[in-house]
Amino acid sequence: MKLLSLSELELHMNREYFIPKPYSKTLDNGSVTWSSPSNIALVKYWGKKEHQIPENPSISFTLDYCKTTTTLSFSKQEDTSEFSFEVFLDGIEKDDFKPKIETFFIRIEAYLPFLKGYHFKIETSNSFPHSSGIASSASGMSALALCLMSIEKQLSGDISEAYFNQKASFLARLGSGSACRSIEGDLIVWGTHQDINDSSDLYGIKYPFDVHENFKNYQDTILLVDKGEKQVSSTVGHNLMHEHPFAERRFEQAHENMSKLISIFKTGDLDAFIKIVESEALTLHAMMMTSMPYFILMKPNTLEIINKIWSYRNETNSKICFTLDAGANVHILYPENEMENVMEFIKNELVAYCQNEHYISDQIGFGANQIQ
Ligand code: PMV
Repeated sequence: MKLLSLSELELHMNREYFIPKPYSKTLDNGSVTWSSPSNIALVKYWGKKEHQIPENPSISFTLDYCKTTTTLSFSKQEDTSEFSFEVFLDGIEKDDFKPKIETFFIRIEAYLPFLKGYHFKIETSNSFPHSSGIASSASGMSALALCLMSIEKQLSGDISEAYFNQKASFLARLGSGSACRSIEGDLIVWGTHQDINDSSDLYGIKYPFDVHENFKNYQDTILLVDKGEKQVSSTVGHNLMHEHPFAERRFEQAHENMSKLISIFKTGDLDAFIKIVESEALTLHAMMMTSMPYFILMKPNTLEIINKIWSYRNETNSKICFTLDAGANVHILYPENEMENVMEFIKNELVAYCQNEHYISDQIGFGANQIQ
């Protein structure tokens, strides 16, 4: 018999918490629709253990405009040994989405025992163009997890809003790690951190401390530098942290940056905020460049934009900064009161570096919405 360490035991017990009691209701068919946003990490998640457990805590702004809307229609069928579902993106059947959803269903079946008792039709669409280089896995997986929770709620009859959101985040994490930060807003923490009491590796929680006015309605303009498919999937990237020479120090640094952000959010220190956020973005990419095999996801125009941002900040009093996902696109973050000037700067100096001059104006949002 394998002996579990205390933290493994805790994780195991916490997972049990999401296994439902036998359902009290029956349901033949129906449909539910959720709209769920994307999110942008300030402290990055890069590296995971088994069962989608993050190597370090992360924190993100929930976005508002960039989202996925998913309708899940379900009809009762004899329990089979296989999952039965079809997937459509913008009305077109997408069989190439099926393996990822199949993997998701396998991971969550223990927590949603009704899955093999229904045939599902998943109809999904994104507010942002499909080939924009914006990952739809966070918004897509969270929208699907929320739809499944709505079915569980109907079968159970009685689920509190807190449990609903927590379990939706828990399930979304098993689809795509960062998706667990897309259920609520406007600032979400995922991963256990010593200074944040209820933080968990299993789901995201709302950031529990004071946040200064400076960070309210923060803006995120996403410059679309490269709309192509990612050359390296995030799954591969996370796995490359296993044998990575700088991994342990990086995970510690993420913990330290989380602690620093707590006082930055409280005091509204935008200069200190910029330092953490830009360093996190560059560290994420530095991890990619120093893994084996190594890779570079930034493009020449990503660097042009970063340099322009630094010059603009030196020449003006602006508090804009950039962050990056696992791709070439640049997220420009800035306080709402700078919107006019920053948009002027973006239009005059930065759109030239975007593919087809495309960018998306977004801002902090407050989480997913049930449409139907
Ligand atoms: O959710 P995943 O497995 O696609 O990982 C996303 C990781 C980053 O976007 C690069 C960082 C983050 O914390 O969102």
